Amino acid sequence: MTTAGDETTSPVDRRTTAASPREAGLLAVDHLSIDFGRRHRPAVRDIGFTIAPGQRLGLIGESGSGKSVTALALMGLLPDNAHVSGSVRWRGRELLGLGDREMSRLRGDQMTMVFQEPMTALDPTMKVGRQVAEALRLHNSSASSARQAVVEMLEQVGLTEPHRVAESYPHQLSGGQRQRALMAMALVNSPDLVICDEPTTALDVTVQARVLKILDEVLDAVGAACLFISHDLAVVSQVCADIMVMRDGSLVESGPVDRVLSHPEHPYTRRLLRAAQLDLVEPGQRIILEDE
Ligand SMILES: Nc1ncnc2c1ncn2[C@@H]1O[C@H](COP(=O)(O)OP(=O)(O)OP(=O)(O)O)[C@@H](O)[C@H]1O
Ligand SMILES: [Mg+2]
Repeated sequence: MTTAGDETTSPVDRRTTAASPREAGLLAVDHLSIDFGRRHRPAVRDIGFTIAPGQRLGLIGESGSGKSVTALALMGLLPDNAHVSGSVRWRGRELLGLGDREMSRLRGDQMTMVFQEPMTALDPTMKVGRQVAEALRLHNSSASSARQAVVEMLEQVGLTEPHRVAESYPHQLSGGQRQRALMAMALVNSPDLVICDEPTTALDVTVQARVLKILDEVLDAVGAACLFISHDLAVVSQVCADIMVMRDGSLVESGPVDRVLSHPEHPYTRRLLRAAQLDLVEPGQRIILEDE
């Protein structure tokens, strides 16, 4: 656990919560609200949470609850029609309102993101190795050492033929390979925080399990914190120590995964759990509570 001011000196258990004062963490979100104009319901309503160095925090909720919009707000990637209020601080520095150049510098190496659909996140016209190399921010390094770093990263995310993968275009790879290539891009600069938005939802179950295991190992190796978005409780509990539950743009419950899964406090969480145990929750499905 960290306390104010000892962030750089105290050992941090990578997977557990730091119930630390807000400024001691990597990221502090306060009273964050997002809407897309009067004709729409607010997408995010007054949420707050922190992420400590190395912390694995899951964000679950049904389709449309505001998970992706939250992630995009942290990354400064919301479209122009989004109205954002509140505060998002990165190591104590306010990010809302920061200029594009500074935001993209931060995104490039300190805070990165893995999206759900690798085919849209990867450039179809560029070989995978070059895309990872472009993400790589090495200063004063030669082309051959950059190439070496790219191949090592592809190997680290479990791609068994990293040279062949590097020379392939995205469409020449399987879905699982493409998702791992995206993970390589997100992790190649050893970021402090990786935001994963449903990174395995598009994959079949066995590939999903393998990709999650690799993600778990690589996050550990890099020492990165992770905000892991999913509608799947089982997936979140595989990667995260802590969890937040989102419904209609609000956070209804949060805490250690074990506690939330064994003693859910909010009726919505209980519903989500029951549905997951019965395997009833499909992406896009809405859970109706008894009081609705
Ligand atoms: N560009 C936009 N313009 C208007 N409304 C938007 C826009 N992007 C998102 N929304 C709305 O914001 C709300 C939250 O969407 P969001 O994509 O964050 O949901 P989600 O929890 O990620 O769902 P899913 O599990 O399906 O990915 C939804 O009502 C959505 O329609
Ligand atoms: Mg989403």
